[in-house]
Amino acid sequence: NASASSAEKQAAGIAAAKLVEDGMVIGLGTGSTTAFAIAEVGRRVREENLDVLAVVTSYQAEMLAIEAGVPLTSLAEHPVLDLAIDGADQVDAKMNVIKGGGAAHTREKVVANSAIRFIVVADDSKMSEELNHFVPVEVLPYARELVKKQMIELGGVPVMRMASRKDGPVITDNGNVIMDVEFGTIDDPAELYQRLSACVGVVEHGIFLNTDEVYVGRKGGAVEIIK
Ligand code: A5P
Repeated sequence: NASASSAEKQAAGIAAAKLVEDGMVIGLGTGSTTAFAIAEVGRRVREENLDVLAVVTSYQAEMLAIEAGVPLTSLAEHPVLDLAIDGADQVDAKMNVIKGGGAAHTREKVVANSAIRFIVVADDSKMSEELNHFVPVEVLPYARELVKKQMIELGGVPVMRMASRKDGPVITDNGNVIMDVEFGTIDDPAELYQRLSACVGVVEHGIFLNTDEVYVGRKGGAVEIIK
């Protein structure tokens, strides 16, 4: 429920935006929690004269950053980011993360892996002892039937993500389609990570293993930092 958790998302987003320092090049993620961080970085650029450059992970992040007045750059110009901030669909007790609910996880993974420090922002509904959320998989459209077969061989149940305001599938910012793959409880996220990465036709999947810190917005507005 987006509105019920929005105060927690805002608290986490604002807390993470405080990590941004003068002269940094940062990565900006996608989703409703990161949107609060982008707005706060924009406020600091305008009101505190914060000197920062940002790389975005999606059209959504680009639009929000432009609206907030955050100056943009590219990974081609700045391949190493000081910090990246992004949301999550689920976070387990060991900081393994599932992303891609917004179909942006491919660029998000590129940005997260280009950052010296990768910060996840989440409300407490995202926190779970184990990962049991479906795994979003970005798929080259030409290979969709082959990928479907490989997902079933890995024990998954793949469902093509369909668009809500268009007939047909969701098309990502990279021109690909998304399969949401149900694996039940994921006992070994690192193993599944490798197996999914080895599938032919998979562009990128939504398991992230390189989170450095999680900023969790708890009910009542407190932010817990998990390292
Ligand atoms: C985008 O593809 C996702 O990885 C998002 O980061 C994730 O869905 C979090 O979104 P919310 O902050 O809106 O929950």
